[in-house]
Parts: sequence; C-alpha cells; structure tokens
Amino acid sequence: MSVLVTGGAGYIGSHTAVELLNQGRDIVIIDDFSNSKPEVLENIRKITGKDFKFYQIDYSDRKALENVFEENNIDSVINFAGFKAVGESTKKPIEYYINNVSGALVLFDTMRKYNVKKFVFSSSATVYGEKNPIPYVETMETGKASSPYGSTKVFIEQILEDIYKSDNEWDIALLRYFNPIGSHESGLLGEEPQGIPNNLMPYIVRVACGQLKELSVFGGDYDTPDGTCIRDYIHVVDLAKGHIKALEKLEKERSGIFTYNLGTGVGYSVLDVVKTFEKSTGQKVAYKIADRRAGDLPAFYANATKAKEELGWIPEKTLEDMCRDSWHYIEMRSKS
Ligand code: WQD
Repeated sequence: MSVLVTGGAGYIGSHTAVELLNQGRDIVIIDDFSNSKPEVLENIRKITGKDFKFYQIDYSDRKALENVFEENNIDSVINFAGFKAVGESTKKPIEYYINNVSGALVLFDTMRKYNVKKFVFSSSATVYGEKNPIPYVETMETGKASSPYGSTKVFIEQILEDIYKSDNEWDIALLRYFNPIGSHESGLLGEEPQGIPNNLMPYIVRVACGQLKELSVFGGDYDTPDGTCIRDYIHVVDLAKGHIKALEKLEKERSGIFTYNLGTGVGYSVLDVVKTFEKSTGQKVAYKIADRRAGDLPAFYANATKAKEELGWIPEKTLEDMCRDSWHYIEMRSKS
C-alpha cells in the first residue's frame, strides 16, 4: 500500500515525503516541476536512504493520473500540488482557479474511480478571512479570503465537505497551515522561490547572504507591541510531522472529515523574526520600516489545542531552530 504525494518535490511536500519514508511507508510522488527541481528527489533519497516511485506529471492530467493509480496500490493521498503565491494569484486568478480547484477535482474524481478515499489536504490559515478574532479556532466560520489563492483553499475545503456529505466512506483531513518556514536540518531541502521572494523568511536569507540590499518591513505602525505584524511561524519539519499524525488519524477512524490548525499557537512580530535570525545565525539583516503591504492583517496565530489533543501533534522546533535551519540551507546551496 502506498501514499500518493502530489507536489512531493515542493517545499512542504518534500519534507513530508521524508517523514513518510522515515516511518517506513511506501510512497509515490508526482510533480510537474513547475515550482520545484528534480534534484529534490535525489535529496529525499539521500536523507532517508529509501527509494520511491516518481512520475513527472501534472496532477490535473487525468490520463496520466489514472495511470499512476493503475500502476500502484495507492490507499491514501496527501495533496501539495497547486500554486501558492498570494500576490501572483491576484494577477492570474484564472490560472489559480484552474490549477488549484479544477486540478483538485480531477484528483478527487480519480480517487473515487479507484476507490481511494483517504485524503489529507494542505489548506491555509487564510481561510479564516479578515473578520475572525485571534487566536483562530477550527470551529470558526471560514471567511472571505483576501486573495484568489486563499479562495481556492476555501473552495476546496467546501468541495471536500460536500464530498464527505455525499459519501461518508471518505476520511478527510483539512490542515490549515500558519506560516511555514525553516528547512530540513541536513540542509538538503528548503524553500527556494523563483525571483524576488514575497515571503518574509526567503527575503531575510537573501538579505543576509548579500543578494538583496535590505528587508522592507511592511508597516511599523500596527497596533502590536513593536508596531510590526504578528504571525504564527511553524517549522516545516514540524508541519510535515503534522501530516503523518493526520494520516494516522484517518487510518484509525472509520470515516470523517477533520480540520486542524497547524501552528504553534505563539505569535512573533516581523522584528522578532529579524532579531532572532541575527542572534541564531550571527548574520546581519539590514532592514527599513516601509509602508504597509496591502491585504496584510495586523496579527494572527493559531489556537493549536485541537491538533495537540486529538492528534498528539506538538511542534518541537523553536523560532531559533527555524531561523538557523533556513540559513543553513542557503549556506549549503552556496557551497554546492
Ligand atoms: C509574513 C509577515 C509581512 C515580506 C502568506 C500567505 C499564507 C501562506 C504564507 C502560503 C507579514 C511581513 C513579509 C517582506 C515583511 N501562504 N513581511 N517584508 O502574508 O503572513 O502569509 O504566506 O503558501 O497563506 O497569506 O506571509 O511571509 O509574506 O509575511 O515585512 O519582505 O512578514 O507583512 O507581516 P503572510 P509572509
């Protein structure tokens, strides 16, 4: 029996593939390399000493996907395929809806055809929208997301609710990620956005290594202790382990649809991250306070109780670990 990991060469997918292999599971990875590189697969093998089957396909290519189900004994799917750049999604909504929503539908339809009904979905804290109070709790109404990217997550969650209502043989976990950063401690896997990064940690590491001049801290006049925005940063390896726990839950349950926040429950400001990065890596991060970025919420973080109580998932890595590991990956890349 194998776990199908879609988008398994990507940032979170590759870290989850490592944890699945470390558990002794058989996995099959599909990825179209639209935002990842083939060498990631080699690095997954290097870290784990284990092999797996790989198909370079687009997950919305129905024929190619059916072939994967034909050739393997798949009994669950973890879906990381999809576009994820918030800013880009506002410029290319059609591409985002086609790839994320239509692609997911092809995947669900194919799963149904092959009677595979265990599914773990990478959702996002962005589904809580702008109106909910913090900390976010799973029982809150999901809101109107602030970008097409966020809307794809809201829509797919809704689609999965409807699928479960129509056929409760499905076992579904909706995992709402907060802000994943960090990388595998080996330095072999990490996050490498193309072009100028939009997210905080990829930007910080590029300033630290001299590729970018300075970080613009978006807004210094928010109603927060130091005036900068607060987020719940979660180490990608802890996040990956959350997927394993969720999959185990689905394997134990007879059926259900379950939603979990995957965050630490602790908020840090942008300046907390900058200072912790400098302290834990010894690298200087030049920054200036700039205008607020449109669409940013002042502060949000998870109520992380449910995942802890129901899954036994407790994030272990500190903000120092997240900063150090993010930097280690870049150091290793510059040496290779
Ligand atoms: C974090 C903080 C910025 C860059 C988004 C998505 C979310 C998830 C993660 C995933 C904010 C500040 C950032 C910079 C800065 N997406 N910042 N200068 O916006 O919280 O969440 O990414 O696939 O769904 O919404 O993350 O890393 O962009 O920003 O000051 O150059 O850092 O204002 O407060 P965000 P982020």
